[in-house]
Amino acid sequence: MQTRDLAAAARAAQGRVVNAAVAPLPRLRALHARDLPELMTIENAAYEFPWTQGIFSDCLAAGYECWVLEDGGQLLGYGVLSAAAGEAHILNVCVAPAHQHCGLGRLLVRRLLDLARWHRAAQVFLEVRPSNPNAIALYHSEGFIQIGVRKGYYPAHGTREDAIVMGMDLLPPSH
Ligand SMILES: CC(C)(COP(=O)(O)OP(=O)(O)OC[C@H]1O[C@@H](n2cnc3c(N)ncnc32)[C@H](O)[C@@H]1OP(=O)(O)O)[C@@H](O)C(=O)NCCC(=O)NCCS
Repeated sequence: MQTRDLAAAARAAQGRVVNAAVAPLPRLRALHARDLPELMTIENAAYEFPWTQGIFSDCLAAGYECWVLEDGGQLLGYGVLSAAAGEAHILNVCVAPAHQHCGLGRLLVRRLLDLARWHRAAQVFLEVRPSNPNAIALYHSEGFIQIGVRKGYYPAHGTREDAIVMGMDLLPPSH
């Protein structure tokens, strides 16, 4: 390689490093009622059996932890957690299909786990469809283990699907 080619390659590499360093991360912020129409386009695209907008409104009204990932004014995903009496439940984690498998689901789950700890929850639980291996792999890799099965928990085409119940201890037993 000629020196000027090397210099150009170095400048290009430097540019990549600089760009990577300043590339803004999606912002995590609280969900507002005004976000619900945009959120529902993601919910309807990502799930075969989506929640209704009313369920999200109820979660907001109940004071659940409802968070969105936003980039340049566009919603990329969201998560919902309830926490009470030393237990937390992850109720929804969803990433827009075009942005899946880029690390955003993990970012959301980690934020929800931080919120569960902030609420002093000793354990966190969730339900997941056995037909959702991506979500199961994500939860396993964050430390969840299967603790049970709820028979016929989810709607399915002409039938019902079981739920795998997963859980994780958040605090050492001495807390
Ligand atoms: C499940 C979901 C939230 C994961 O979000 P994501 O942004 O795609 O996941 P991440 O990129 O953070 O990946 C985290 C892990 O999930 C698993 N995973 C996610 N997408 C995967 C895919 N397409 N293939 C295989 N594993 C996948 C992997 O274990 C991955 O870890 P790795 O990247 O180290 O292999 C997302 O697929 C989604 O929104 N699905 C539709 C809604 C849903 O099913 N929510 C869960 C309800 S319980």
